[in-house]
Amino acid sequence: MGAPPSDVRPVLCIVGARPNYMKMAPLIRAMGANSDVPPAVLVHTGQHYDPSMNAKLFEDLQLPAPDLNLEVGSGTHAVQTAEIMKRFEPVVDAQQPSCVVIVGDVNSTLACSLVAVKKNVPVVHVEAGLRSFDRSMPEEINRVLTDQISDLLYTTERSAHANLAREGIDDDRIHFVGNLMIDSLLSHGPRAVPVATLLEQAGVHGEALAKWQRFGVVTLHRPSNVDDLAVLRPLLRALRDASELLPLVCPLHPRTRANIDKFGLSDLVASPRILVLPPQGYLEMLGLMSSATVVMTDSGGIQEETTALGVPCLTLRENTERPITVEQGTNTLVGRSHEHILAALSEVLTSGGKRGRIPELWDGRTGERIAAHLAGWLQGRHAHV
Ligand code: UD1
Repeated sequence: MGAPPSDVRPVLCIVGARPNYMKMAPLIRAMGANSDVPPAVLVHTGQHYDPSMNAKLFEDLQLPAPDLNLEVGSGTHAVQTAEIMKRFEPVVDAQQPSCVVIVGDVNSTLACSLVAVKKNVPVVHVEAGLRSFDRSMPEEINRVLTDQISDLLYTTERSAHANLAREGIDDDRIHFVGNLMIDSLLSHGPRAVPVATLLEQAGVHGEALAKWQRFGVVTLHRPSNVDDLAVLRPLLRALRDASELLPLVCPLHPRTRANIDKFGLSDLVASPRILVLPPQGYLEMLGLMSSATVVMTDSGGIQEETTALGVPCLTLRENTERPITVEQGTNTLVGRSHEHILAALSEVLTSGGKRGRIPELWDGRTGERIAAHLAGWLQGRHAHV
């Protein structure tokens, strides 16, 4: 098959795992609305495949079904990354894209950018430059390496520019555009599933509902928090004690569920004041987070979403790659000690917690800005080829 003419070469858009979808959905929509952007081809690597981590979110976010699915599934980091690369290379050969757009920091992000750069296909990284400065996090490795080989780097907060400059990346490749996650949040906010509906579906009826007038939401899935018994057990004990102060809704990631079972820790979450749920849809999570008194999490995206919603967030990590959520938003870095978690929760319950303000350019129009900039950039490249 011959290569398509260069001016209609598609933009290959990559998703692999849950946090990618809320970023890619508004971008695909904005690119489709801008006639200067070549057509998008959506590639799913298949890193996440459970319906609750995947199809349900596509539906909630009105993300079109992927044009191609590489169906890589789970594996060690090496196996998963290698398998994505092997399966993505023939896609690049067949599609001859004008560029590859990748979002975030998951294994799919790094794997696809490596394939593209070695074929001289421009790599466009959305959410570039975030740094936790913690190289034990797989995502930090993915971020640093992806940014090094990206041609165009779109950032969500101004601190990212300094991080990239320090790593030797030229200023003219870096563009501050704002946060695509917030595009999704603002456009789908009105469709959020009410908490009463969720509780009803979870079997909480009648008088039992009264207890859930105020509640906290907990999500935990970072390997550093859930893969090691010596960390997970005290964390769950802290959450069990926290639930005495405020009932907790806990949508459990498959990794966390599996480890709780493997380590025999189910007793620690078996409480009438802890509602354990399977992974939730996007609209369900929006409903839960926006009505919560506080959210406790180790997720990156939820730190940003709670800032945009003005809901206090206690981050159960020692660091964050999203410092603006602490400096301007509602986020507090609490770490993982029992004492600090309980103290931070008590403080929120007494004072109402941080309210914060909305960071610059988290305005729901990031997709439009990227589409407009990308169109001009691709035309500029085309003119020089
Ligand atoms: C990945 C991302 C992480 C992101 C998270 C969101 C990397 C390095 N990590 O972590 O940054 O915050 O997604 O969820 O890319 N599993 C299922 N069903 C699925 C997917 C996974 O059961 O649909 C289980 C499997 O047992 C798998 C484990 O979860 O081994 C971990 O999945 P994986 O995609 O490797 O990493 P996450 O922990 O989800």
